[in-house]
Amino acid sequence: MNIAANPVVEADQTVYLKDYQIPSFLVDAVDLNIQVFADYTRVTAKLKMQRQSAGDLVLLGRDLSLESIILNGTPLTSDAYQLDTEQLVIQNAPEQVMLETVVLIHPESNTQLEGLYQAADDLFVTQNEPEGFRKITFYPDRPDVLSVFTTRVEADKKFPVLLANGNLIEKGDAGEGRHYAIWQDPTKKPAYLFACVIGDLAVLKDSYVTSEGRNVALEIYAEEKDIPKCHIAMQALKHSMRWDEEHYGLPYDLDIYMIVATSAFNMGAMENKGLNIFNTSCVLADEEYTTDAAIMRVQSVIAHEYFHNWTGNRITCRDWFQLCLKEGLTVFRDQSFSEDLQSAAVQRIDDVAVLKAHQFPEDSGPLSHPPRPDHFVEINNFYTATVYEKGAEINRMMATLLGKEKFRAGTDEYFKRHDGQAVTVEDWVAALSAGSGVDLSAFLTWYNQPGTPKLEAKGEYDADAQSYTLSFKQSLKAHAKYPNLKAVPMPVALALFDAATGEQLVLNSDSLFENGVKDGVYLFDQAEASIVFKNVTAQPVVSLLRNFSAPVDLEFNYSDQDLAFLLQHETNGFNQWQAAQTLLENILLKDHNAQVYLDAISSPHLLPQLVNTDPLLASRLLDVPSEGYLASRIDADYNPLVIQAKREALLNAVAQACKGFWKNIDQELQAPAEFSQAMGVRALKNIALAMMVRQGDESAFDLAYDKFKSTGNMSERLGALKVLVWNDAPQAEKALIDFYLRFKGEALAMDQWFMIQAAHPKAEAQSIAYLTSHPDYDLAVPNRIRAVSGGLNANPVNTWSFGVEHFVNLAQYLDEKNPIVGSRLLQVLSRWYTLAEPQRSHVKAQLEALQPLVKSKNVTETLSTMLSVA
Ligand code: TRP
Ligand code: ZN
Repeated sequence: MNIAANPVVEADQTVYLKDYQIPSFLVDAVDLNIQVFADYTRVTAKLKMQRQSAGDLVLLGRDLSLESIILNGTPLTSDAYQLDTEQLVIQNAPEQVMLETVVLIHPESNTQLEGLYQAADDLFVTQNEPEGFRKITFYPDRPDVLSVFTTRVEADKKFPVLLANGNLIEKGDAGEGRHYAIWQDPTKKPAYLFACVIGDLAVLKDSYVTSEGRNVALEIYAEEKDIPKCHIAMQALKHSMRWDEEHYGLPYDLDIYMIVATSAFNMGAMENKGLNIFNTSCVLADEEYTTDAAIMRVQSVIAHEYFHNWTGNRITCRDWFQLCLKEGLTVFRDQSFSEDLQSAAVQRIDDVAVLKAHQFPEDSGPLSHPPRPDHFVEINNFYTATVYEKGAEINRMMATLLGKEKFRAGTDEYFKRHDGQAVTVEDWVAALSAGSGVDLSAFLTWYNQPGTPKLEAKGEYDADAQSYTLSFKQSLKAHAKYPNLKAVPMPVALALFDAATGEQLVLNSDSLFENGVKDGVYLFDQAEASIVFKNVTAQPVVSLLRNFSAPVDLEFNYSDQDLAFLLQHETNGFNQWQAAQTLLENILLKDHNAQVYLDAISSPHLLPQLVNTDPLLASRLLDVPSEGYLASRIDADYNPLVIQAKREALLNAVAQACKGFWKNIDQELQAPAEFSQAMGVRALKNIALAMMVRQGDESAFDLAYDKFKSTGNMSERLGALKVLVWNDAPQAEKALIDFYLRFKGEALAMDQWFMIQAAHPKAEAQSIAYLTSHPDYDLAVPNRIRAVSGGLNANPVNTWSFGVEHFVNLAQYLDEKNPIVGSRLLQVLSRWYTLAEPQRSHVKAQLEALQPLVKSKNVTETLSTMLSVA
């Protein structure tokens, strides 16, 4: 450890969960007047407050210039309060306080996209989660202070749209070419859910009648040209509203629900009460302009933000350590929703793929933290895969264990107990336990510990006793900041198969099992345990962790033949995929012979049959773990070139093994009308095209180019473009130009154009420089930065060579301009210490050289944590 050598974030900047104290003042009502002018914005805030406990009146505020402050009718002079760069403190404030402040802020020069900022020439929006509201006005900006808000928004009439949370109660002329609108939000909310929008946008309108008979106006605001791309989002919104009524008994509670799309946004979307603000990438969906994956993502993010209305908004977090309370539960809810939109097995595959590709590596490196951390420096650094995806997995485990009815009884109890409150993870688990009648308190351990538990299992067949014994053992890697790690409860969903016939054995008969397995799920909740299945007449094949019933790293003594068997005979589509992935890891990381896999994947009984019934699942069974994922499984002496070479060789072997299959897919499979089936067919055809190139099929480039030009579907067009560009086909250059001319006014399509070029396997420093100096590259737009950086990072060989400088320079630049995004991008390099020498030292030196150059809490915390490993 060389922590002493690092200018570590000062100790006193760390916030600890154990130091939580209730706020000394609560806010009963807030009255805001936001007046937007060309080169400043004036914010007048009237706060009606009441003392709750002893202590100073603390109002948080950042980058505000204070014009005046009046307390209970008396203007305060500067000796009556203490003001620094973070807060305004009034000592000895009375029990009842009416405080009026006037501040000036500068949204027109706010590049951090936090607080109120100018998102485009004709658009101002807010982003206040987690701590942005303090950049709008002085306020007790913490989630356990809930209040009702009335908001007056005033601006030039060239901005016809004036929105805020709640219901519109008044609008009118404000003189001098200006107008105003007054919005009132009747529901108490924390300040992070405040939003307002000032701009010139078009709107798509619809309506929805809730189960309670409330007529809700639905409005999606976007640029005029993008309105036709908002219909899928609107359908998804209505579907989400119905789904939450049917599955959780939760209806919407206001008369209006608005969504505003902007391309200047740090993350995916934000659940502001009644006024969601979205990244355009999570609203606009249209087969001509966006991919099938993007269409699926739009639907799930629309659902996610809508579901927050109950899990997050009506019941919110007591403090930011509890972030996974709202995010983990809401992600679990949106995943369940999406399982109804496409093959449930494929949805689960996609969610687990994200978990394994992002959360597992995060949890195995220096940035590892519990879903509920107990300390942080910058909370923005904790909007992580661990908080979101592992948080969702914890809820899924509890739901799996309880079954549908008990889980619903548990959530009913949660909403009954805590509606209108700011609560903790303990409150959630307690309500779920009380409502379901099942003590789930052992699951709290999952929230408090970092690291992916390893689950070691062994299966032994005793022919004489006709019994099959499964033994389990769990362990966690030691973590310096979180000692005393405990065993966690893991629901292990499992099935046994007859090795000879491929049939699943019946488990729910007394004669078959001894203990613990109920409805195909065994709850393993000790450090070690075993279970015995009786009357098993021959050596069975066991399938463990069906549907990935626990987020653990499973080590089981499968033979490659067992895995090939499961790939072909498991009836659980997820575990078919899981078997293929494990087999491929054996080949790519443990040098197993590839033939068992090649035989299984090319079997005439597998894919050729599946393509007709579930083409989407068929396409996923062809997944080969990415180089990035494979890297995350290597803890030392990682050489990106070696992994790349092995993976390429495997892909070439697959191309040969399934030779006839690709041509058939290309020529015979037709996309049906149903979206999820059609999506599967398109995915398969794109794989087939790439495989035909690998096979050396000379017609493949012409085929790709024809398809590129003739299709009206973005997934097909990009599939073809990738094949051309990544293989340096003679048609590549003209296809790129054609794409550019066709889509240059479409930001999301252009993101794909940048991404594909950055993801060229043979990209070089110069080709990335060409993209980042392109006139359409824009460092003020996170989507565009992510397009190039994400594309580059698709090839770890490139990331770890010239890419390091790209990410380091970007982090340095964004440290000042947009530290939230800068910090997240830098995390791409978090597993630097696993590299083989001399690369390891080289990257380390570059990271160390960055340290003295950065100032933001965001980047500083990330960098010092990243460097704390060695
Ligand atoms: N609560 C948002 C969500 O998960 C997350 C979010 C959106 C966010 N924008 C942000 C978090 C900006 C931090 C900063 O739906
Ligand atoms: Zn969320």
